Amino acid sequence: MLVLGIESSCDDASAAVLNVTGPGHAAVLSNTLATQEDLHRPYGGVVPELASRNHLLTIIPVVERALAQAGAPLEALQGVAVTCGPGLVGSLLVGLMFAKGLAQQRGLPLVGVNHIEGHLLAPLLEHEPEFPFLSLVVSGGHTELFVVEDLGRYRRLGRTHDDAAGEAFDKVAKLMGLGYPGGRAIDEIATRGDRRRLRLPRARVRGERFAFSFSGLKTAVAQLLATAEAAQIKAEDLAASFQEAVVDALVRPTLAAAAEFDLRTITLTGGVAANSRLRARLKELAEEQGCRLVAPSLGYCTDNAAMIALAGSYRLLRGQSHALDLDAQPSLAL
Ligand code: KG4
Ligand code: ZN
Repeated sequence: MLVLGIESSCDDASAAVLNVTGPGHAAVLSNTLATQEDLHRPYGGVVPELASRNHLLTIIPVVERALAQAGAPLEALQGVAVTCGPGLVGSLLVGLMFAKGLAQQRGLPLVGVNHIEGHLLAPLLEHEPEFPFLSLVVSGGHTELFVVEDLGRYRRLGRTHDDAAGEAFDKVAKLMGLGYPGGRAIDEIATRGDRRRLRLPRARVRGERFAFSFSGLKTAVAQLLATAEAAQIKAEDLAASFQEAVVDALVRPTLAAAAEFDLRTITLTGGVAANSRLRARLKELAEEQGCRLVAPSLGYCTDNAAMIALAGSYRLLRGQSHALDLDAQPSLAL
């Protein structure tokens, strides 16, 4: 079954064509991306109105490119999967309206996909993690820990109570004058720094063992930079100490959850999965505990349409689809 996936929930527009061979099994024939990083950089964050307007310009070329790269004419498609939430409402609407128009015009079944379900199933695009597995989703918008019991069966153990991990990276990078988005820059300079040089908080949430919180850490960095000693702090050491605090705060609850629920596979997805220290530390400690870490290639960790097509495809195979009154749901829960 050839399925077209469309993703436009935030600042990236993506389209993918998958050859689906079974539930959770597919070959990615194409996975194209129109990124808006340069557009939002001057503002130090995503400007929702600019994001949706730009999606209007890129959605058709992105889909055309996905079809061309897959060597699939429109007539060959057998279903359309599109992100319907959570995300920025204007951004979501562009992908969703396009998908509805296409489905209507070609008489194709349409399925709306929860963006987080896409991230949870992304590892299946390249690996065969056995269910159940534990999944840590860490991006600029999300920090969530789930047990993926099976296709369509997810149990959320915890999430951030304030900033997402990527948001914390971006805010601290901004405080340090490292530009936007700043996660990659912090990762880079941290390799030359001393991660024990500065003591920074690792917040816990009372009564919730698997929850996260990063806003206090960001404030601690801001306060540190406002002190008289700030001039003596090397940027490399601050980056390394901050990064270590984020990594500790992510890794500890994840490993505790793996132990508590006796899960042997941990998957890591979302843009922050690119972080070299997070990958290395989680892998090392997971293996010490008898667990395997599975992290998809970077293109499947960040927002992409291939994961959306995969998450929609098992429903399409079951004959499930949505009616054309499907709406964008900015706060859609999984
Ligand atoms: O999933 P993603 O591409 O997009 C959204 O969240 O929508 O994630 C982007 C986030 C940004 O916050 C960025 O700073 C962070 O991922 N990021 C990193 C690294 N590369 C990207 N954070 C830490 N270390 C990195 N190497
Ligand atoms: Zn995402």
